[in-house]
Amino acid sequence: MGKDFTVLMARNQAMVEDCLARAFASEPRHADLQEAMEYSLLSGGKRIRPILTLETCRLCGGSILEALPFACGVEMIHTYSLIHDDLPAMDDDKLRRGRPTNHIVYGEAAAILAGDALLTAAFEQLTKAELPAGRIVQAVQCLSQAAGSAGMVGGQALDMAGEGRALDREELELLQSLKTGALITAAAELGCIAAGGTQEQRTQVRAYAQALGRAFQVRDDMLDIISSQEELGKTVGSDRVNEKSTFVTALGLDGCSALVEKLTRQGIEALNGFEDPAFHIWLANLLAQRKK
Ligand code: IPE
Ligand code: IPE
Ligand code: MG
Ligand code: MG
Ligand code: MG
Repeated sequence: MGKDFTVLMARNQAMVEDCLARAFASEPRHADLQEAMEYSLLSGGKRIRPILTLETCRLCGGSILEALPFACGVEMIHTYSLIHDDLPAMDDDKLRRGRPTNHIVYGEAAAILAGDALLTAAFEQLTKAELPAGRIVQAVQCLSQAAGSAGMVGGQALDMAGEGRALDREELELLQSLKTGALITAAAELGCIAAGGTQEQRTQVRAYAQALGRAFQVRDDMLDIISSQEELGKTVGSDRVNEKSTFVTALGLDGCSALVEKLTRQGIEALNGFEDPAFHIWLANLLAQRKK
């Protein structure tokens, strides 16, 4: 499988953790609100999206430090989406990242507000990048489109509307590419934008991340069945309880494994034009087999 990037991954993770921990340190806020925001933001998580931003910046010829505010912005959006996803009105889950979910600890109103505040703070983060203003505008455009009604929120709306109903393959693919794929794709594109990458690079990076994002959600659907609460750090069996149509209900576990493999291969092939995509290849293979 080539070179092992575990150490590089840990270094990137540490950089992201440090940046997130400092994000709200200097400005006084309503203390309870800040506590609720940081409870979820600093509770671990694999940090796949920000790492994708950093390493895609490197892949496209930039220096990863320049992309750090973009990386943290993406992680804030992701964390907000998880807080809201777990609410009683949505998936009604009680465990996330190995701890009680935000609303279990702070109550529903505080959890909604913590999510709102993280969503807003994400865009403030983008403006902190020490990059030409044009690149920051492109980043705002990319992230807002990916996070909003034509992206992640749109996918979440389809997910909620689909509860209790058998979705066909086309509906499922749209739902999943929006709810999960859009943000993962934006994470990679933000790296390319930070680096001032070419249109051709951006197109290739997009194709890679779209495939990766789809594989990621198929694997997530599998883990809801095959993993344990201890390993996953979130409630297993949640999809069944909520009567969700997932790739497991559509294809079965073996069909899902084959699809993850195929998408991973497709994603890797999309990077053929790059000189040194070794990290991205390693990451795609790692995520295809992830246990949490
Ligand atoms: C979980 O995302 C939600 C999905 C989009 C499938 P992750 O599996 O990246 O969750 P964390 O950030 O590691 O907790
Ligand atoms: C949620 O998908 C994707 C988001 C946009 C948060 P899931 O509902 O499957 O995510 P988990 O399994 O709760 O992490
Ligand atoms: Mg959900
Ligand atoms: Mg959920
Ligand atoms: Mg899930």
